[in-house]
Amino acid sequence: MNIITSLSEMQSTAESLRNQGKRIGFVPTMGFLHEGHLSLMRASRKECDVTVVSIFVNPTQFGPQEDLDRYPRDAEGDRKKCESAGADILFMPGAKEMYPEKPTVFVTVEGVSDILEGAVRPGHFRGVATVVAKLFNIVKPHIAYFGRKDFQQCVVIKRMVTGLNMDVEVSVLPTVREPDGLAMSSRNAYLNADERRAAAVLSRALSAGEELINAGVREAEKVRAKMRAVLLQEKGIVIDYAEVADPETLAPVEIVNNGKVLLVAARLGKIRLIDNLLLV
Ligand code: PAJ
Repeated sequence: MNIITSLSEMQSTAESLRNQGKRIGFVPTMGFLHEGHLSLMRASRKECDVTVVSIFVNPTQFGPQEDLDRYPRDAEGDRKKCESAGADILFMPGAKEMYPEKPTVFVTVEGVSDILEGAVRPGHFRGVATVVAKLFNIVKPHIAYFGRKDFQQCVVIKRMVTGLNMDVEVSVLPTVREPDGLAMSSRNAYLNADERRAAAVLSRALSAGEELINAGVREAEKVRAKMRAVLLQEKGIVIDYAEVADPETLAPVEIVNNGKVLLVAARLGKIRLIDNLLLV
C-alpha cells in the first residue's frame, strides 16, 4: 500500500492511473476506522482497479463547539486496517495543505443541507460538500463510496455531483451494525459503558417504527410518536429528531408508504448519535 500525503503527488498519481485506463475507487474517511469503513473499501476493491482511501479530519465540517480537537485518531491502526482491506493508496493530506489559508471558496447544497442534521449543525454540510469536492478533484475517482449510516450526507453529495455535473459515480452502501443493532461509528469510542448499552435504543426505535408501518399504519405522525416513545425509554436521552421523510428531498411526509426513510438523532450525555432506516 502506497501512502501519499502530498496533494500534487496524489493528483499526478491519479492522472497517470487514469491514463493507464485504470478505474479508481475512492473511500473518503476521517479515520479511526471500523467495519463500516472497511465494507466500503472491500466494495471498491471488488469493483475498481485501484482503491484510494483518504483520512482527513476536516475542520470545516465541525462547528465551533464541536469535537474537532477530541476527534479520535489512530494513524497506525488505520494504516493496518486499510492494508488488510486491500486498499492500494492511503491518502493522508495535512490540514495546512488542504486549507493553506482561511477558506473563502465553498460548495453549498441548498435546502437539504439546512434541515435535520443541518438544523442542529449549521454549516456542517457546507464543510462536507466542500471537502468532498476538493478530494474528488485531487483523487479523480470513477466511483466514490459512502455509507448509508450518514443518510443525509449521501443526499447532499449526490445533489452536489448532479448539480455541478461532476463525473463521479456515487455508490451508497448499507449501514454496518454491532450485534445489538448500534450503527458503527468512530464516535462510539466516546461512549461509557452505560451510554454504550443505552445507545442501542436508536436502532430499536427505528425497528419499532418499521414494525408499525408493516402492521399497516400509514400516518407518519403515529410512526414519529412511536419512535420518540421508544427513544425515551432510555433515561437522560435528549431527542434531536425522529422523522419520517422522503429519501430524495428529506422533506417530512404525512403518509407513509414504501420507499420512505426513518431518521433519528439523539444525545446520550455529551455524545450525539444518528441512525436511519430506509424502507423498501
Ligand atoms: P466518516 O465519519 O469517517 O465516514 C466515512 C464513510 O464511512 C462515510 O461515507 C460514512 O457514511 C461511512 N460509514 C460510517 N459508519 C458506517 C457504518 N456503520 N456503516 C457503513 N458505512 C459507514 O463521513 C465522513 O467521515 C466525512 O463526513 C467525510 C465524507 C469523509 C468528509 O469529511
